[in-house]
Amino acid sequence: MPVPIIIDCDPGHDDALAIMLAAADPAVDLLAITTVAGNQTLEKTTLNARRVCTVAGITGVPIAAGCDRPLLQPLAVADDVHGESGLDGPEFPEPTVEVVPEHAVELIHRILMEHPEPVTLVPTAPLTNIALLLTRYPDSAARIREIVLMGGSTDRGNRTPAAEFNIHGDPEAADIVFGSGVPVTMCGLNVTHQALATPQVLARFEGLGTELGHICAELLSYFASTYKRLWGMPHPPLHDPVAVARVIDRSIVGCVDANVTVELHGQYTRGATVVDLHQYLDRPVNAQVAVTLDAERFWDRMVGAVAALGARHTP
Ligand code: BDR
Ligand code: CA
Repeated sequence: MPVPIIIDCDPGHDDALAIMLAAADPAVDLLAITTVAGNQTLEKTTLNARRVCTVAGITGVPIAAGCDRPLLQPLAVADDVHGESGLDGPEFPEPTVEVVPEHAVELIHRILMEHPEPVTLVPTAPLTNIALLLTRYPDSAARIREIVLMGGSTDRGNRTPAAEFNIHGDPEAADIVFGSGVPVTMCGLNVTHQALATPQVLARFEGLGTELGHICAELLSYFASTYKRLWGMPHPPLHDPVAVARVIDRSIVGCVDANVTVELHGQYTRGATVVDLHQYLDRPVNAQVAVTLDAERFWDRMVGAVAALGARHTP
């Protein structure tokens, strides 16, 4: 039986591919896509979710817009990484997929309460919507099978030397999620930097011979240019789909139990995830932390999803 999931995202180049993977892979059943401010404003991330669903032919999956800013701090978008639109690179047609008239938090809560089985949440953005859900509707925690998120790092950050973007984007929200008691899996930079979109990977997307495969290659080329410019990385890491891959097949992403604490006060380290990987500090385990990636099987799954979507839809 496919695992029922909701993806909470801020598309975002890598979020776009995470949506495609979640929509097409038979191991998961994508119940909803919710958006939040992060890589760009809420207005832009929501438009981008609609754009992605339109070009990928993803219909019948509700899209709902959520929080337009972090819980406490002001919004700081990642236009240096994802561009002015949040999804710079390809030309997108006018989206034909609409947003439902319900706040993301309300939609997630409703689905959790109505679905016959517990649902897995896959946040690939700042955790504002998820923290608000857990705070406003504490009863929803029991209906969440697990939260498998992209965010944090066992070592260094990308938004600051210490903090990764999604956690830095709303540290208070992340603190609520890691402290919620809901099973959490953290797929941080230490593992997503093993999912590198090399020229060979881009060639696989182009080689599909579909419009969607070409759009994916264009998204990844843009992402490659920003990663080269900002961090000198020859190939960009495809962060967000790694969290989806963990739900699809646990053996693709290997994890260890650990205590994860979010730094809220550090003068230079706010938003850092402090991960006690070896349980040295005797703090309670509150997360599974991803440490290994089977990159070959990850890319097979990712390219396979885009192939499946492209076959059923040519925009
Ligand atoms: C995360 O930050 C965003 O820019 C990406 O979409 C990803 O979710 C990586 O740090
Ligand atoms: Ca993201």
